[in-house]
Amino acid sequence: MVGAGLRHRADVGSTQALRYPAGSGPRYRGHVRCIVLSDLHVHRKPEAGENRTLERLVAHLRQRFAAGTRPHVVITGDLTDNGAEDEYHRVVALLRPLVEDGFVLTACPGNHDVGLKGNSFMTSARIDFQRHVLGELLGMARARSSSDRMAELYPLVTQGSDAVLVGLDTANDEGMLASGRIGRRQLELLREIVSERDRGKGLLVFLHHHPFDRRRSMRVEDAEAMLDLLDGQADVLCFGHRHVWGKWPGYRNIGVVLASGKSTKQERRRGPWYWEVTVGRGAPQWARRLLPRR
Ligand SMILES: [Fe+2]
Ligand SMILES: [Fe+2]
Repeated sequence: MVGAGLRHRADVGSTQALRYPAGSGPRYRGHVRCIVLSDLHVHRKPEAGENRTLERLVAHLRQRFAAGTRPHVVITGDLTDNGAEDEYHRVVALLRPLVEDGFVLTACPGNHDVGLKGNSFMTSARIDFQRHVLGELLGMARARSSSDRMAELYPLVTQGSDAVLVGLDTANDEGMLASGRIGRRQLELLREIVSERDRGKGLLVFLHHHPFDRRRSMRVEDAEAMLDLLDGQADVLCFGHRHVWGKWPGYRNIGVVLASGKSTKQERRRGPWYWEVTVGRGAPQWARRLLPRR
């Protein structure tokens, strides 16, 4: 879909041969539209390149989607570069216009959100993510606490009209450094969410780390357990972290697995881009939207 006079170059795909277990197939009614962003790496200084690119993305989304058609915005971690509180203030300032316009935001933390350069772990940084991103930006009252409540808040579930969005926290273990872990508690809750959901609704799951790259700096230690749960159940699985985009339709019988790369990366020849995904009571669809050159 092209809106507000902006031209998009799209790489459009859709699931052709999903294998759902009997009785759980899509029913082709409504859907929820999601914009997927990742790895914003917002800096404290307003003039930083990432901040300017995010400003441009936000302006584009506000212009493209008219009131009443605002999609969900899913952010798969590394919102900040160093998990510093002044960076979180900047994140809130940059993304607040979307909330004020009526976009529904959801997010999960990345390794850069919980410590310096993505290679350290500070509980204070996780609390800053909780307070500023979940509390201020997403408007979650329970998150506006100075104590660590992240374990109570994830998996973070957003009930859309025709789809359920589920965020996982993979940046919860101080021993993991750049790699991630979901943990038994979140996996158990994810199992419940998957089995008890309205099966007519679509299911989009998102996390920060890479679900099947096994390199130490990329991986989620317990990704296999998550993939077993989502096999034949999830319509879309989104992640970030690697700063390289990708798409894997049908991987582990999931409608599509999408890597968002780094949404605030300015490539020499082209502007930033984002995934536009529709998920709901039909097969998921996805399109890679590039902003027009300036
Ligand atoms: Fe990142
Ligand atoms: Fe990361």
